[in-house]
Amino acid sequence: MSSKWKINLSPFSHFWRTLAFRLTAGYAVAGLLLVFAATASLYFVLRSELESSTDQFLADKLHVIRTMLRDRPEDWDALHEEIELESAARKYEHFYVRLLDARNQVLLMTPGMSEQLDLSKFAPPSRRQSDHAVPMKGKNGEMFRATTATAAVGSPPATTDTIQIAIDISQKEGLLARYRFWFWTLLTATSVLFPLIGYQVTRHGIRPVEEMATTARRITSSNLRERIRTEGYPYELASLASTFNEMLDRLEESFERISRFSADIAHDLRTPVNNIRGETEVALARGRSVEEYREVLGSCLEEAVCLSELISDLLFLARAESPLTHVRRERVDIGQLLNGVCEYYEASAADSGIVLTTSVGDKPVIGELDRTLIQRAVGNLVSNAVAHTPAGGSVVLEANAETAGIRIEVADTGIGIPAEALPRVFDRFYRVDSSRSKASGGSGLGLAIVQSIMALHGGKAEIASQPGKGTRVTLRMPISGAA
Ligand SMILES: Nc1ncnc2c1ncn2[C@@H]1O[C@H](COP(=O)(O)OP(=O)(O)OP(=O)(O)O)[C@@H](O)[C@H]1O
Ligand SMILES: [Mg+2]
Repeated sequence: MSSKWKINLSPFSHFWRTLAFRLTAGYAVAGLLLVFAATASLYFVLRSELESSTDQFLADKLHVIRTMLRDRPEDWDALHEEIELESAARKYEHFYVRLLDARNQVLLMTPGMSEQLDLSKFAPPSRRQSDHAVPMKGKNGEMFRATTATAAVGSPPATTDTIQIAIDISQKEGLLARYRFWFWTLLTATSVLFPLIGYQVTRHGIRPVEEMATTARRITSSNLRERIRTEGYPYELASLASTFNEMLDRLEESFERISRFSADIAHDLRTPVNNIRGETEVALARGRSVEEYREVLGSCLEEAVCLSELISDLLFLARAESPLTHVRRERVDIGQLLNGVCEYYEASAADSGIVLTTSVGDKPVIGELDRTLIQRAVGNLVSNAVAHTPAGGSVVLEANAETAGIRIEVADTGIGIPAEALPRVFDRFYRVDSSRSKASGGSGLGLAIVQSIMALHGGKAEIASQPGKGTRVTLRMPISGAA
């Protein structure tokens, strides 16, 4: 009951972990920081420039008044003109000056100054270290920059006057306020737009990955032909797609091989079982003599032997493929081993009119190998050679030590293998001429077993053949497991 009402939050919790979200968050944070740093630094540069231009103006004015007080202390008209007219000429950037004598009596003052400014806010000249201006708020809310300075009267100085000077910076403050407004507007817009744009760009960028996932999801063992599109993708993704396609090629090939293999197994098992069944049914159809029963049983036994050999070959191949299969290595004299195999097949070769010989150099060829497996591999090659060599031909078994390891060769002067069949002879159940081979009892697993024995030893089997002239199979393997 409770699970029925449980809200599934997984799509959202999943969202935080998506690549799109992480990239978008990265873009957005980086973009915001960049915009913030750029606009904030511009703001501070602008503010300090405005401040220094104001301070420069105040310093100029102070300089002019000081010069006049020093050079023409009695010329009050000129001072009036300088202070009052200059101020009246400025419509927005009003500036105010008050001149006090040593006893703090007002000598001169810009008209309207006391209405605009709280004059008591001016610092006394004794406490001033320099002409440095400070912000000051006016009576009507305007902002000013103001300073108090001293000026020597006459030359040589007779007395010291105090100059109080202030300039209206409301206009510049307004400019800065507008800048701050746009600064925050831009930042807000960026914090909304960056994630949106970033998300769109990221989604577009990773769309190929989603397409790949969709295609991959469609692929099943019965639908292995499907491939991922590689055109129109960025280079990295195109190469990922083609690597994926190559993997599918390999999988498809393996699947095909396995299904062919299973069909071949079924076929090869069915034939002897059908034979046994058919012969038994015929035999049981009516009464038979002991001799007839003996013949049927003999034939059934033959088929049963075939079946059990086929099954043990299949089992061997299956085990050889397992990564857990170990090779039981021991010191093996390859020359002796070839002689042993030769002796085993000598009689049947002689019956077929074939000469079987071994050729090993003076130096013994010794390797750390699995004796039983190598015997089986060489035995399979010799049995093939004997089976496919007409009377009068010969089969030579050769062993050599090479720098890279051991080489064993089985060469015959038999009927050979057509060039087009050569690449397939190591495949399971492959027979060049199935009808002919079937007659000689072959199931097409012999060379596949040889190849897997070589693989277990870290080696390789190769075949070369010329139709009508003969076949040579070469086994190459390292001298020991450590090599
Ligand atoms: N020395 C050879 N000369 C000519 N053809 C060969 C020779 N060795 C192998 N072949 C061909 O390659 C095929 C595959 O050989 P393989 O040993 O795998 O199977 P097989 O001999 O038919 O059966 P099995 O060895 O399982 O009894 C053979 O059927 C045969 O046609
Ligand atoms: Mg064979």
